Amino acid sequence: MRQVIGSQSPSLNVLSQEPLVAGTPMSLLDGQVVPTNLFFIRNHFPVPAMDADQWSLKVTGKVRDEFSLTYAELKEMPRTELEALLECAGNSRAAIQPPIEGLLWDHSGVSSANWAGVSLRTLLDRAGLLPSAQEVLLIGADRGTEAGESAEMCFAMSLPMDKALDPSTLLAYEMNGVPLLPEHGHPLRAVVPGWYGMTSVKWLVEIQVLDRPFQGFHQSEYYVYRDLGADDGSPAERVTSIKVKSLITWPGRGQMLEVGTHRLRGVAWSGAAPVAKVEISTDDGWEWNAATLQESGSRHAWQQWEYVWEATEPGRYLIRARATDEMNNSQPVSAPWNFRGFASNSIHAVPVVVKRPH
Ligand code: MTE
Repeated sequence: MRQVIGSQSPSLNVLSQEPLVAGTPMSLLDGQVVPTNLFFIRNHFPVPAMDADQWSLKVTGKVRDEFSLTYAELKEMPRTELEALLECAGNSRAAIQPPIEGLLWDHSGVSSANWAGVSLRTLLDRAGLLPSAQEVLLIGADRGTEAGESAEMCFAMSLPMDKALDPSTLLAYEMNGVPLLPEHGHPLRAVVPGWYGMTSVKWLVEIQVLDRPFQGFHQSEYYVYRDLGADDGSPAERVTSIKVKSLITWPGRGQMLEVGTHRLRGVAWSGAAPVAKVEISTDDGWEWNAATLQESGSRHAWQQWEYVWEATEPGRYLIRARATDEMNNSQPVSAPWNFRGFASNSIHAVPVVVKRPH
C-alpha cells in the first residue's frame, strides 16, 4: 500500500517509506512549477520534529560576530524570491548498466518551485567573515545512521565561498507561497540553485563558517564520483553542478498515438549555463530538429519546450530529446558510469506506437 506522511499526494512514487523518498511522476513535470504536494522528496534520515516557535538558527565559526535568529527575526530580514528547480544527484540512475548502488530513481527526482526566504549572503554579511573563512557549512537537524556506518551522524554539507556568497543561494522558509512542509525542511532550508539537491540542506539549525575543507560523510564519501577499482586513497571528486538534461513529459512511454500532428512536450535545464537548444529526434537519433524553447523567467528554473511532430506513417518510433547549454555542454547517448550513478544525463528516449485511426 502506498502511504506518504504529511500532505503529500498519493500520486508520488514512493521509493522508500523510512526514510521517506518519493518521486514526482513525469507527466506532472509538465508545468513551470510542481505543486508543493507533488514535489519529490529525498530524505536520508527520519523527518525531525521541528517547532518554528522554539527553533533558532545559529551563525558561528570564523566570523566577527556570532549570532542566532528566531523564526520571527528571520522573517523580518529582506525577503528574496526565487524560482528554481532541485534535482537529486541520483535522478535517472535506474537505467544505468551495469546496475549501480542506490535507490532506483527513474526520472522523478526533479521538481521546480517558487521559493522565498533570505539570501545566505545577507546573514554572512551581518556576521562579518574573517579573512580565514574558506567554506560555509550548512547543518540540518535530522540524525541517523547510514547503511554500513556505525556512528550516528547529522546531515551537513558545505559550500565554497563563491557559492555561499552568490546572491541566489537562498535560505528558504516558503515554497509556492506557503511555509515549507515538514518533509521539505520546515522551518528553514537552503536552496542552492545550479547544484544537485544534496547541498540544499533541510531543517537548518546552524551555519558554521569554516577555515578548512569540510570532510563530512555525505560530502566526502557519499556524494562523490567514485569508480570501482580506482580507489588509490586520493579524495574522490565531489558532486556539485547539475549537468545539462532534457526530459520528454508528453507522450509517455509506450503511448499509442494516431497518425497526425502531435505536440511533443518537455522540460530542459543545466546548472552550468542557460539552455541554448533542445533537439528532437523521432527516428532513434538519426535526424535531429530544433524544438521551440519557452522563456522561463528564471535562470534557475527549467525551460519548457515543444515540438510539432507530423506522424505520417503508422509504426513504432523512438522519440529522443537532447539539450545543449550555452557552454556547449550536451547530453551523451550514455552518461559515464560511476559507483552511485550520480549525474546521469543520458539522452531521454520514449518509445511510442503510431496507428491509423479506426
Ligand atoms: N537535508 C537534510 N537535512 N537531510 C537530507 O536527507 N537530502 C538532500 C537535500 N537536503 C537532505 C537534505 C537531498 S539528497 C536532496 S536531493 C534534497 O534535499 C531534496 O529536497 P526535497 O526533499 O525537498 O525535494
